[in-house]
Amino acid sequence: MARGAPTPTLAALALVLAASSVALHLCASSAASTPTTGRPPVAPGLSYGFYKRSCPQAESMVRRFVHDAVLKDVGVAAGLLRLHFHDCFVQGCDASVLLNVNGSGEKKAQPNLTLRPAAFKAVNDMRDLLDKACGGPVVSCADILTLAARDSVGETGGPRYEVPLGRRDSANHASVADVTAALPAPFFKVPAMLKILSNMNLSLDATDLVALSGAHTIGLGHCTSFEGRLFPQADPAMDAAFAAHLKQVCPAMGAPGTTPLDARTPDRFDNRYYVDMISRQGLFTSDQDLFTHAATRTVVDSFAKSQKAFFRQFALSMVKMGQIKVLTGDRGQVRTNCEAPNPRAVLPWSVVVEDAADSFVI
Ligand code: HEM
Repeated sequence: MARGAPTPTLAALALVLAASSVALHLCASSAASTPTTGRPPVAPGLSYGFYKRSCPQAESMVRRFVHDAVLKDVGVAAGLLRLHFHDCFVQGCDASVLLNVNGSGEKKAQPNLTLRPAAFKAVNDMRDLLDKACGGPVVSCADILTLAARDSVGETGGPRYEVPLGRRDSANHASVADVTAALPAPFFKVPAMLKILSNMNLSLDATDLVALSGAHTIGLGHCTSFEGRLFPQADPAMDAAFAAHLKQVCPAMGAPGTTPLDARTPDRFDNRYYVDMISRQGLFTSDQDLFTHAATRTVVDSFAKSQKAFFRQFALSMVKMGQIKVLTGDRGQVRTNCEAPNPRAVLPWSVVVEDAADSFVI
């Protein structure tokens, strides 16, 4: 599903650099980064320099891979970003979404049926490349997902930021029922989504919800994800012209079409998603309700006005999301094949390289 090449990132980069006074460590490139006033809390066992000694080229290799992949197919960026979200919200960021044991696993759950095959393939390709470069399976699949999501954001024009690493992979996947319960549905309203966030053992709040939903600035939705807003009658919360346009893409229930999540700049990571909301052109109820609901409306307004504010909060919220129920140290494993648990005899190769100065308990 190749679409146009991503637009240049320079303007976005300039905005990000201008945001360097914020409490988050944003960087233009890993080589030239300058620490700012602080970093978000880091879960015990994770650290920013985790692969510094065991595989120093890991981050640059993932970044190069994502750069090339996104040039060929910008949709891979959306696919990788969503994969990280679907990993973290279900049982924590442990790469369980990738497990494919005897044809069972989280992939079978309804919300995961539309995860992009190209994103799964990209993770496997990165696994192979990293194994060769690092002399074995040093970098966990969960960290590959984290880095690939981060770089997908940067490569489509969004903020560049650092992520703490050191996650380990789970040997077990969640049940289909657990996946469905853990992931918010597109017809959810704000209270239902906040309830899901409150189950994450992290202080993810309404601001995080609005910022993370901004990931819908790139990527596609299938008609089946929003047709309930078109039939039998168009949702009154939706702009009438937008509803008419969507009915052309999805003429009846069950139509096979897709449409961009952000109608204004579909392939560019920017703050236009929030302008869509204010214009009542959000695709899902879960998007539009962020503007309808009093608890989140002012945050939507502020992100629509300031891309800088959105980028800063998005990076912070992603670092938080990336630490949901992580496995570290001797818990979990570094899977040699991201799609299968290690055979019992295989010990994880990775070593814990923790920079105590970077670690704070959340
Ligand atoms: C907050 C509640 C959320 C809901 C209800 C939701 C729901 C959905 C749905 C239904 C789709 C389209 C599936 C399809 O029809 O193909 C989608 C796509 C997407 N979601 Fe979300 N999502 C949410 C949050 C997030 C978060 C937190 C992220 C990442 C940080 C994310 C990233 C994406 C991306 C990038 C796509 C496009 C995927 C592609 O084009 O392959 N979403 N989401």
